[in-house]
Amino acid sequence: MLVLGIDTSCDDTSVSVYDAKENRVLSNIVSSQYSFHREFGGVVPEIAARKHAENIDLVFEEALEVAGVGVKDLNLISVTNRPGLLPALLVGLTFGKGLAYSLSVPFKAVHHIEAHIFSPFIGSEPEYPFIALVVSGGHTLIVLVEGFGSYSLLGKTLDDAVGEAYDKVAKLLGLGYPGGPVIDRLYREYDGKYLELPKPKVKGFNYSFSGIKTAVRRLVEKGYPAEQVAASFQETAVSYLIGKLKKALKETGVRRVAVSGGVSANSLLRERLKELDVDLYLPPLEYTSDNGAMVAYVGYRRFLIEGEDTLEVGALARCPIS
Ligand SMILES: Nc1ncnc2c1ncn2[C@@H]1O[C@H](COP(=O)(O)OP(=O)(O)OP(=O)(O)O)[C@@H](O)[C@H]1O
Ligand SMILES: [Mg+2]
Repeated sequence: MLVLGIDTSCDDTSVSVYDAKENRVLSNIVSSQYSFHREFGGVVPEIAARKHAENIDLVFEEALEVAGVGVKDLNLISVTNRPGLLPALLVGLTFGKGLAYSLSVPFKAVHHIEAHIFSPFIGSEPEYPFIALVVSGGHTLIVLVEGFGSYSLLGKTLDDAVGEAYDKVAKLLGLGYPGGPVIDRLYREYDGKYLELPKPKVKGFNYSFSGIKTAVRRLVEKGYPAEQVAASFQETAVSYLIGKLKKALKETGVRRVAVSGGVSANSLLRERLKELDVDLYLPPLEYTSDNGAMVAYVGYRRFLIEGEDTLEVGALARCPIS
């Protein structure tokens, strides 16, 4: 069974062909729009939607070509419909519905965060329970996953997502967009002292990143070097993430951790996670940020349980995971 996975939830147009029987990704094409959003220091929804509309058929054709399959070989169309930027989501959703209708094959709408959660397991099968740490541009979540579809939200950010904080700090430092990769590189190159930044005390397993960002603004105004501020921010953000994760592991007694989302590409986060005494599941770098493969993987598993969705399904800007 060949599953097409489509994601246009934010600023990446992605289409993947997934062989569900073999549990193998045959292609995963991502067309990134960073260069169009860079001058604005963040994603502009109208530009994202327009670029998705211009690119999606090209990305789709490339995904088929790389997979070595024809359009008539597809057996299921799986598309992210929630949560995300509404005008951006609608492009992929409409394209996917059109394909499913014209090919007379089933259609499945997928929750983007559920797709991120399972991205470390593409090509394998997860063992349960595990703690999912989702660290992306729009989300920072700690979720207890007791089975496929069985999720308890343990904690989330009360304001900015960690990826968003990376992007805002980079903007304050004049480092461009997206902020994560450049701050990560500066951290690697820096070998001086770290500046002290606050780790906001919020209840339970929740996070808050807006105070750290404000503290960074003050350091910038005081004239500290960009490399030192960037490295200090990464040190603080990563140890804050790890601290709450450790707390969740201790309180739940769970010994498996799956980390996903764009920030899971971070080199320091990966280093610190590997020091934990747990079974650790990290996605390969190509599945850290948005990709169609994770949408196909989750869409297929949902289809097995629930069957197909009607083409009446709409897009949702917000939608909690549990
Ligand atoms: N090496 C890195 N270190 C830290 N952050 C990174 C790194 N690489 C990418 N990022 C961050 O990852 C984020 C993008 O991740 P992703 O594509 O998963 O988010 P999104 O899809 O926009 O948000 P969501 O999935 O919540 O809708 C950006 O904020 C970017 O700065
Ligand atoms: Mg995402």
